[in-house]
Amino acid sequence: MATVGKPIECKAAVSWKMNGGFSIETVEVAVPKKGEVRVKIRSAGICHSDLHVLKGMDKKWPFPCVLGHEGAGVVESVGEGVASVVPGDVVVLVWEAYCGECDFCKDPRTNLCQKQPRNHLQMDGTSRITCKGQPIFQMMSVSAFSEYTVTSEFNVAKVDPMANQRCLALAGCCIPTGYGAVKNVGKVTPGSTCAVWGLGAVGMCVLLACKDQGASKIIGIDLNPRKFLRAIQFGATDCLDPEEVNVKDRLSEMTNGGVDFCFVSVGVVSAMEQAFLSSHPQWGKTVVIGLANVGETMKVGVWELIFGRQLLGTYYGSYKSRLHIPHLVDKAQIHLENLVSHYIPLERIADGFDMLKTGESLRTVIDFETRA
Ligand SMILES: NC(=O)c1ccc[n+]([C@@H]2O[C@H](COP(=O)([O-])OP(=O)(O)OC[C@H]3O[C@@H](n4cnc5c(N)ncnc54)[C@H](O)[C@@H]3O)[C@@H](O)[C@H]2O)c1
Ligand SMILES: [Zn+2]
Ligand SMILES: [Zn+2]
Repeated sequence: MATVGKPIECKAAVSWKMNGGFSIETVEVAVPKKGEVRVKIRSAGICHSDLHVLKGMDKKWPFPCVLGHEGAGVVESVGEGVASVVPGDVVVLVWEAYCGECDFCKDPRTNLCQKQPRNHLQMDGTSRITCKGQPIFQMMSVSAFSEYTVTSEFNVAKVDPMANQRCLALAGCCIPTGYGAVKNVGKVTPGSTCAVWGLGAVGMCVLLACKDQGASKIIGIDLNPRKFLRAIQFGATDCLDPEEVNVKDRLSEMTNGGVDFCFVSVGVVSAMEQAFLSSHPQWGKTVVIGLANVGETMKVGVWELIFGRQLLGTYYGSYKSRLHIPHLVDKAQIHLENLVSHYIPLERIADGFDMLKTGESLRTVIDFETRA
Protein backbone atom coordinates (compact mmCIF):
# COMPACT_ATOMS: atom_id res chain seq x y z
CA MET A 1 0.00 0.00 0.00
CA ALA A 2 1.23 3.46 -0.87
CA THR A 3 0.68 4.73 2.67
CA VAL A 4 2.91 2.17 4.44
CA GLY A 5 5.83 3.70 6.30
CA LYS A 6 4.50 7.25 5.92
CA PRO A 7 2.29 9.42 8.13
CA ILE A 8 -1.31 9.60 6.88
CA GLU A 9 -3.31 12.80 6.66
CA CYS A 10 -7.00 12.14 7.20
CA LYS A 11 -10.17 13.42 8.86
CA ALA A 12 -10.97 12.97 12.52
CA ALA A 13 -13.48 14.41 14.97
CA VAL A 14 -11.39 16.28 17.55
CA SER A 15 -12.88 17.26 20.91
CA TRP A 16 -10.79 20.25 21.93
CA LYS A 17 -12.21 20.66 25.41
CA MET A 18 -14.50 19.17 28.03
CA ASN A 19 -18.13 20.13 27.46
CA GLY A 20 -17.21 21.21 23.95
CA GLY A 21 -18.33 19.43 20.83
CA PHE A 22 -16.58 17.89 17.87
CA SER A 23 -14.71 19.61 15.12
CA ILE A 24 -13.82 17.77 11.97
CA GLU A 25 -10.13 18.36 11.46
CA THR A 26 -7.36 17.13 9.23
CA VAL A 27 -5.06 15.14 11.49
CA GLU A 28 -1.80 13.35 10.97
CA VAL A 29 -1.71 9.71 12.01
CA ALA A 30 1.86 8.57 12.55
CA VAL A 31 3.53 5.38 11.38
CA PRO A 32 2.95 2.54 13.87
CA LYS A 33 5.90 2.00 16.21
CA LYS A 34 7.14 -1.31 17.60
CA GLY A 35 4.21 -3.50 18.66
CA GLU A 36 1.63 -1.14 17.16
CA VAL A 37 -0.85 -1.34 14.30
CA ARG A 38 -2.42 1.30 12.10
CA VAL A 39 -6.08 0.66 11.36
CA LYS A 40 -8.30 2.14 8.66
CA ILE A 41 -11.55 2.54 10.52
CA ARG A 42 -14.66 1.38 8.71
CA SER A 43 -17.29 1.82 11.45
CA ALA A 44 -17.49 3.56 14.82
CA GLY A 45 -20.44 3.42 17.21
CA ILE A 46 -21.56 6.31 19.39
CA CYS A 47 -21.75 4.91 22.93
CA HIS A 48 -23.02 6.80 25.95
CA SER A 49 -19.56 6.47 27.51
CA ASP A 50 -18.27 8.95 24.89
CA LEU A 51 -20.96 11.38 26.02
CA HIS A 52 -20.14 10.82 29.71
CA VAL A 53 -16.50 11.68 28.95
CA LEU A 54 -17.36 14.76 26.93
CA LYS A 55 -19.69 15.99 29.66
CA GLY A 56 -16.97 15.78 32.30
CA MET A 57 -17.58 12.44 34.04
CA ASP A 58 -13.87 12.45 34.85
CA LYS A 59 -12.59 15.94 35.56
CA LYS A 60 -9.03 14.71 34.96
CA TRP A 61 -9.75 13.40 31.45
CA PRO A 62 -7.15 14.88 29.09
CA PHE A 63 -8.17 17.06 26.15
CA PRO A 64 -7.83 17.66 23.24
CA CYS A 65 -8.87 14.11 22.55
CA VAL A 66 -10.15 12.03 19.67
CA LEU A 67 -12.99 10.15 21.35
CA GLY A 68 -14.64 6.95 20.14
CA HIS A 69 -13.88 3.54 21.60
CA GLU A 70 -16.36 1.32 19.73
CA GLY A 71 -14.71 0.81 16.36
CA ALA A 72 -13.66 -1.68 13.74
CA GLY A 73 -11.76 -1.65 10.48
CA VAL A 74 -8.90 -3.12 8.53
CA VAL A 75 -5.20 -3.21 9.44
CA GLU A 76 -3.35 -0.87 7.07
CA SER A 77 0.18 -1.49 8.34
CA VAL A 78 2.00 -2.89 11.35
CA GLY A 79 5.05 -1.84 13.34
CA GLU A 80 8.15 -3.88 14.10
CA GLY A 81 7.60 -7.17 15.87
CA VAL A 82 3.83 -7.38 15.42
CA ALA A 83 2.94 -11.03 15.07
CA SER A 84 -0.77 -11.28 15.82
CA VAL A 85 -2.14 -9.39 12.80
CA VAL A 86 -1.07 -8.54 9.26
CA PRO A 87 -2.19 -5.79 6.86
CA GLY A 88 -5.63 -6.60 5.48
CA ASP A 89 -6.90 -8.31 8.64
CA VAL A 90 -10.35 -7.26 9.82
CA VAL A 91 -10.10 -6.12 13.43
CA VAL A 92 -12.25 -4.76 16.22
CA LEU A 93 -10.64 -2.10 18.42
CA VAL A 94 -10.63 -3.19 22.06
CA TRP A 95 -10.46 -0.49 24.71
CA GLU A 96 -8.97 -2.73 27.35
CA ALA A 97 -5.84 -4.45 26.15
CA TYR A 98 -5.15 -8.15 26.46
CA CYS A 99 -1.43 -8.88 26.32
CA GLY A 100 -1.83 -12.43 27.60
CA GLU A 101 1.39 -12.22 29.58
CA CYS A 102 0.92 -9.90 32.55
CA ASP A 103 -0.26 -11.06 35.98
CA PHE A 104 -3.77 -9.75 35.34
CA CYS A 105 -4.10 -11.32 31.88
CA LYS A 106 -3.08 -14.65 33.34
CA ASP A 107 -5.54 -14.31 36.24
CA PRO A 108 -9.11 -15.49 35.50
CA ARG A 109 -10.48 -13.14 38.19
CA THR A 110 -10.02 -9.98 36.10
CA ASN A 111 -10.16 -8.81 32.49
CA LEU A 112 -7.91 -5.83 33.05
CA CYS A 113 -4.43 -5.83 31.54
CA GLN A 114 -1.48 -4.21 33.24
CA LYS A 115 -0.17 -3.05 29.88
CA GLN A 116 -3.22 -0.91 29.10
CA PRO A 117 -2.03 2.69 29.33
CA ARG A 118 -4.39 4.57 31.66
CA ASN A 119 -3.45 7.97 30.23
CA HIS A 120 -5.11 7.83 26.77
CA LEU A 121 -1.74 7.61 25.07
CA GLN A 122 0.25 4.74 23.60
CA MET A 123 2.46 2.48 25.72
CA ASP A 124 5.51 4.73 25.24
CA GLY A 125 3.61 7.69 26.68
CA THR A 126 3.02 9.53 23.40
CA SER A 127 0.12 9.90 20.96
CA ARG A 128 0.09 8.87 17.29
CA ILE A 129 -2.46 11.54 16.34
CA THR A 130 -1.49 15.17 15.88
CA CYS A 131 -3.53 18.12 14.68
CA LYS A 132 -1.97 21.41 13.63
CA GLY A 133 1.28 20.10 15.10
CA GLN A 134 -0.29 19.44 18.51
CA PRO A 135 -0.50 15.92 19.97
CA ILE A 136 -4.09 14.79 20.55
CA PHE A 137 -5.01 12.29 23.27
CA GLN A 138 -6.47 8.98 22.12
CA MET A 139 -9.50 7.81 24.11
CA MET A 140 -8.65 4.54 25.88
CA SER A 141 -5.56 4.57 23.59
CA VAL A 142 -7.75 3.66 20.60
CA SER A 143 -9.67 6.71 19.18
CA ALA A 144 -12.35 5.44 16.83
CA PHE A 145 -13.67 8.80 15.58
CA SER A 146 -10.88 9.05 13.02
CA GLU A 147 -10.44 7.67 9.52
CA TYR A 148 -7.19 6.06 10.69
CA THR A 149 -5.80 5.31 14.12
CA VAL A 150 -2.74 3.69 15.63
CA THR A 151 -2.90 1.52 18.72
CA SER A 152 -1.11 -1.42 20.30
CA GLU A 153 -1.56 -4.86 18.77
CA PHE A 154 -2.92 -5.76 22.22
CA ASN A 155 -5.82 -3.36 21.57
CA VAL A 156 -7.13 -5.05 18.42
CA ALA A 157 -8.99 -8.34 18.06
CA LYS A 158 -8.75 -10.13 14.73
CA VAL A 159 -12.21 -11.34 13.72
CA ASP A 160 -14.07 -13.15 10.95
CA PRO A 161 -13.28 -11.23 7.74
CA MET A 162 -16.77 -12.03 6.46
CA ALA A 163 -18.48 -10.13 9.30
CA ASN A 164 -20.59 -7.17 8.18
CA GLN A 165 -18.06 -4.39 8.47
CA ARG A 166 -20.63 -1.63 8.35
CA CYS A 167 -21.85 -2.50 11.85
CA LEU A 168 -18.89 -4.50 13.20
CA ALA A 169 -17.95 -1.64 15.55
CA LEU A 170 -20.65 -2.80 17.95
CA ALA A 171 -18.54 -5.84 18.74
CA GLY A 172 -16.08 -3.42 20.34
CA CYS A 173 -18.31 -2.23 23.18
CA CYS A 174 -22.06 -2.79 23.53
CA ILE A 175 -22.06 -6.47 22.58
CA PRO A 176 -19.34 -7.67 24.98
CA THR A 177 -20.54 -5.31 27.72
CA GLY A 178 -24.16 -6.46 27.61
CA TYR A 179 -23.49 -10.15 27.00
CA GLY A 180 -20.73 -10.34 29.56
CA ALA A 181 -22.79 -8.64 32.26
CA VAL A 182 -25.29 -11.48 31.89
CA LYS A 183 -23.04 -14.45 31.17
CA ASN A 184 -19.85 -13.70 33.09
CA VAL A 185 -21.04 -11.58 35.99
CA GLY A 186 -24.73 -12.15 36.75
CA LYS A 187 -24.48 -15.74 35.40
CA VAL A 188 -28.20 -15.78 34.62
CA THR A 189 -29.76 -19.22 35.05
CA PRO A 190 -32.57 -20.81 32.98
CA GLY A 191 -36.07 -20.00 34.24
CA SER A 192 -34.93 -16.99 36.28
CA THR A 193 -36.37 -13.47 36.35
CA CYS A 194 -34.34 -10.54 35.06
CA ALA A 195 -34.83 -6.76 34.96
CA VAL A 196 -32.87 -4.28 32.89
CA TRP A 197 -32.74 -0.53 33.58
CA GLY A 198 -31.79 1.54 30.50
CA LEU A 199 -32.79 0.25 27.07
CA GLY A 200 -30.00 1.71 24.94
CA ALA A 201 -27.78 -0.55 22.85
CA VAL A 202 -26.03 -1.90 25.94
CA GLY A 203 -29.38 -2.68 27.61
CA MET A 204 -30.63 -4.35 24.43
CA CYS A 205 -27.57 -6.62 24.45
CA VAL A 206 -28.39 -7.49 28.07
CA LEU A 207 -31.91 -8.47 26.97
CA LEU A 208 -30.53 -10.64 24.15
CA ALA A 209 -28.19 -12.43 26.51
CA CYS A 210 -30.88 -12.97 29.20
CA LYS A 211 -33.07 -14.56 26.54
CA ASP A 212 -30.16 -16.67 25.38
CA GLN A 213 -29.64 -17.90 28.94
CA GLY A 214 -33.28 -19.04 29.09
CA ALA A 215 -34.66 -16.48 31.55
CA SER A 216 -38.42 -16.86 31.99
CA LYS A 217 -39.25 -13.20 32.60
CA ILE A 218 -37.20 -10.27 31.25
CA ILE A 219 -38.45 -6.86 32.27
CA GLY A 220 -37.14 -3.75 30.52
CA ILE A 221 -37.31 -0.41 32.35
CA ASP A 222 -36.83 2.94 30.65
CA LEU A 223 -38.04 6.53 31.03
CA ASN A 224 -38.44 6.62 27.25
CA PRO A 225 -41.36 4.37 26.21
CA ARG A 226 -40.25 4.70 22.58
CA LYS A 227 -37.64 2.06 23.44
CA PHE A 228 -40.21 -0.57 24.41
CA LEU A 229 -41.09 -1.97 20.99
CA ARG A 230 -37.43 -2.65 20.20
CA ALA A 231 -36.91 -4.07 23.68
CA ILE A 232 -39.65 -6.63 23.06
CA GLN A 233 -38.01 -7.54 19.73
CA PHE A 234 -34.73 -8.10 21.63
CA GLY A 235 -36.30 -10.39 24.22
CA ALA A 236 -38.10 -8.32 26.88
CA THR A 237 -41.30 -10.00 28.05
CA ASP A 238 -42.58 -6.85 29.78
CA CYS A 239 -41.65 -3.17 29.92
CA LEU A 240 -42.10 -0.59 32.68
CA ASP A 241 -41.98 3.20 32.63
CA PRO A 242 -40.82 4.54 36.02
CA GLU A 243 -43.00 7.59 35.48
CA GLU A 244 -46.09 5.40 35.26
CA VAL A 245 -45.56 2.79 37.99
CA ASN A 246 -43.69 2.26 41.23
CA VAL A 247 -40.98 0.09 39.75
CA LYS A 248 -39.86 -1.65 42.92
CA ASP A 249 -43.40 -2.59 44.00
CA ARG A 250 -44.42 -3.67 40.52
CA LEU A 251 -41.32 -5.82 40.12
CA SER A 252 -41.91 -7.42 43.50
CA GLU A 253 -45.46 -8.39 42.42
CA MET A 254 -44.27 -9.68 39.06
CA THR A 255 -41.46 -11.79 40.48
CA ASN A 256 -42.88 -13.14 43.73
CA GLY A 257 -40.84 -10.97 46.08
CA GLY A 258 -37.83 -9.75 44.09
CA VAL A 259 -35.96 -10.06 40.82
CA ASP A 260 -33.29 -12.76 40.53
CA PHE A 261 -30.98 -10.68 38.31
CA CYS A 262 -31.00 -6.88 37.92
CA PHE A 263 -28.84 -5.08 35.35
CA VAL A 264 -28.36 -1.32 35.25
CA SER A 265 -27.26 -0.09 31.87
CA VAL A 266 -27.78 3.59 32.52
CA GLY A 267 -25.43 5.94 34.35
CA VAL A 268 -27.95 7.08 36.96
CA VAL A 269 -27.19 6.31 40.61
CA SER A 270 -30.86 6.39 41.68
CA ALA A 271 -31.59 3.66 39.11
CA MET A 272 -28.73 1.57 40.55
CA GLU A 273 -30.15 1.97 44.06
CA GLN A 274 -33.64 1.10 42.84
CA ALA A 275 -32.32 -2.00 41.09
CA PHE A 276 -30.53 -3.18 44.21
CA LEU A 277 -33.71 -2.77 46.28
CA SER A 278 -35.76 -4.55 43.61
CA SER A 279 -33.51 -7.59 43.63
CA HIS A 280 -34.59 -10.60 45.65
CA PRO A 281 -33.64 -10.02 49.32
CA GLN A 282 -32.13 -13.48 49.72
CA TRP A 283 -30.37 -14.20 46.45
CA GLY A 284 -30.89 -11.26 44.08
CA LYS A 285 -27.88 -10.07 42.15
CA THR A 286 -27.51 -6.53 40.81
CA VAL A 287 -24.94 -5.87 38.11
CA VAL A 288 -23.96 -2.22 37.60
CA ILE A 289 -22.90 -1.43 34.03
CA GLY A 290 -23.71 2.29 33.66
CA LEU A 291 -21.04 4.82 34.49
CA ALA A 292 -21.35 7.71 36.91
CA ASN A 293 -19.13 10.68 37.64
CA VAL A 294 -15.83 9.74 39.24
CA GLY A 295 -16.34 9.99 43.01
CA GLU A 296 -20.13 9.45 42.96
CA THR A 297 -21.41 6.91 45.47
CA MET A 298 -24.36 4.54 45.78
CA LYS A 299 -26.26 4.17 49.04
CA VAL A 300 -26.74 0.57 50.14
CA GLY A 301 -28.52 -0.30 53.39
CA VAL A 302 -26.71 -2.87 55.52
CA TRP A 303 -29.94 -4.69 56.35
CA GLU A 304 -30.87 -4.70 52.69
CA LEU A 305 -27.61 -6.48 51.99
CA ILE A 306 -27.01 -8.98 54.76
CA PHE A 307 -29.63 -11.59 53.95
CA GLY A 308 -27.86 -12.39 50.72
CA ARG A 309 -28.28 -9.73 48.02
CA GLN A 310 -25.20 -9.26 45.90
CA LEU A 311 -24.02 -6.04 44.29
CA LEU A 312 -21.60 -6.46 41.38
CA GLY A 313 -20.01 -4.31 38.72
CA THR A 314 -18.59 -5.03 35.33
CA TYR A 315 -16.04 -3.46 33.03
CA TYR A 316 -16.25 -4.54 29.40
CA GLY A 317 -18.54 -7.42 30.35
CA SER A 318 -15.60 -8.91 32.22
CA TYR A 319 -14.38 -10.50 28.96
CA LYS A 320 -10.68 -10.75 28.22
CA SER A 321 -11.04 -8.60 25.15
CA ARG A 322 -8.75 -9.88 22.42
CA LEU A 323 -9.33 -13.47 23.48
CA HIS A 324 -13.14 -13.52 23.58
CA ILE A 325 -14.37 -10.86 21.15
CA PRO A 326 -13.67 -12.96 18.02
CA HIS A 327 -16.01 -15.67 19.39
CA LEU A 328 -18.64 -13.09 20.26
CA VAL A 329 -18.52 -11.79 16.70
CA ASP A 330 -19.26 -15.31 15.48
CA LYS A 331 -22.14 -15.66 17.92
CA ALA A 332 -23.72 -12.22 17.76
CA GLN A 333 -23.24 -11.31 14.12
CA ILE A 334 -26.91 -11.68 13.33
CA HIS A 335 -27.82 -9.06 15.93
CA LEU A 336 -25.25 -6.40 15.07
CA GLU A 337 -27.26 -4.86 12.28
CA ASN A 338 -30.52 -4.79 14.23
CA LEU A 339 -28.94 -2.74 16.99
CA VAL A 340 -28.05 0.08 14.60
CA SER A 341 -30.75 2.71 14.18
CA HIS A 342 -28.78 5.24 12.10
CA TYR A 343 -25.71 5.27 9.86
CA ILE A 344 -24.11 8.67 9.41
CA PRO A 345 -20.93 10.07 7.85
CA LEU A 346 -18.21 11.38 10.22
CA GLU A 347 -19.16 14.96 9.36
CA ARG A 348 -22.54 14.44 11.05
CA ILE A 349 -21.12 13.18 14.35
CA ALA A 350 -22.72 16.04 16.31
CA ASP A 351 -26.17 14.97 15.02
CA GLY A 352 -25.37 11.44 16.21
CA PHE A 353 -24.73 12.74 19.73
CA ASP A 354 -27.89 14.87 19.63
CA MET A 355 -29.93 11.75 18.79
CA LEU A 356 -28.31 9.89 21.69
CA LYS A 357 -29.26 12.72 24.06
CA THR A 358 -32.89 12.89 22.90
CA GLY A 359 -33.26 9.12 22.83
CA GLU A 360 -34.21 9.15 19.15
CA SER A 361 -31.46 6.67 18.26
CA LEU A 362 -30.57 3.22 19.50
CA ARG A 363 -27.01 2.91 18.20
CA THR A 364 -25.75 5.42 15.67
CA VAL A 365 -22.83 4.19 13.65
CA ILE A 366 -20.40 6.40 11.80
CA ASP A 367 -19.92 4.69 8.46
CA PHE A 368 -16.60 5.91 7.10
CA GLU A 369 -17.51 4.85 3.60
CA THR A 370 -20.49 7.20 3.50
CA ARG A 371 -19.66 10.70 2.35
CA ALA A 372 -21.32 13.80 3.78
N1 LIG B 1 -19.28 -0.90 32.36
C1 LIG B 1 -18.83 -0.84 31.11
O1 LIG B 1 -17.82 -1.45 30.75
C2 LIG B 1 -19.60 -0.06 30.10
C3 LIG B 1 -19.39 -0.29 28.73
C4 LIG B 1 -20.21 0.40 27.81
C5 LIG B 1 -21.15 1.30 28.25
N2 LIG B 1 -21.27 1.53 29.59
C6 LIG B 1 -22.30 2.44 30.10
O2 LIG B 1 -23.56 1.81 29.95
C7 LIG B 1 -24.58 2.82 29.92
C8 LIG B 1 -25.51 2.57 28.74
O3 LIG B 1 -24.86 2.89 27.52
P1 LIG B 1 -25.73 3.06 26.17
O4 LIG B 1 -24.76 3.46 25.11
O5 LIG B 1 -26.60 1.89 25.97
O6 LIG B 1 -26.61 4.34 26.58
P2 LIG B 1 -27.96 4.94 25.97
O7 LIG B 1 -27.98 6.39 26.30
O8 LIG B 1 -28.13 4.53 24.56
O9 LIG B 1 -29.11 4.20 26.82
C9 LIG B 1 -29.46 4.57 28.11
C10 LIG B 1 -30.99 4.41 28.27
O10 LIG B 1 -31.33 4.68 29.63
C11 LIG B 1 -32.57 5.37 29.64
N3 LIG B 1 -32.69 6.06 30.94
C12 LIG B 1 -32.22 7.28 31.31
N4 LIG B 1 -32.48 7.51 32.61
C13 LIG B 1 -33.13 6.41 33.08
C14 LIG B 1 -33.64 6.04 34.35
N5 LIG B 1 -33.53 6.85 35.41
N6 LIG B 1 -34.23 4.82 34.48
C15 LIG B 1 -34.33 3.98 33.41
N7 LIG B 1 -33.85 4.28 32.18
C16 LIG B 1 -33.27 5.48 32.02
C17 LIG B 1 -32.51 6.27 28.43
O11 LIG B 1 -33.80 6.66 28.02
C18 LIG B 1 -31.82 5.36 27.42
O12 LIG B 1 -32.75 4.62 26.66
C19 LIG B 1 -23.83 4.16 29.89
O13 LIG B 1 -23.75 4.67 31.21
C20 LIG B 1 -22.46 3.76 29.39
O14 LIG B 1 -21.47 4.68 29.75
C21 LIG B 1 -20.52 0.87 30.50
ZN1 LIG C 1 -18.90 1.98 25.04
ZN1 LIG D 1 -1.89 -8.05 30.09
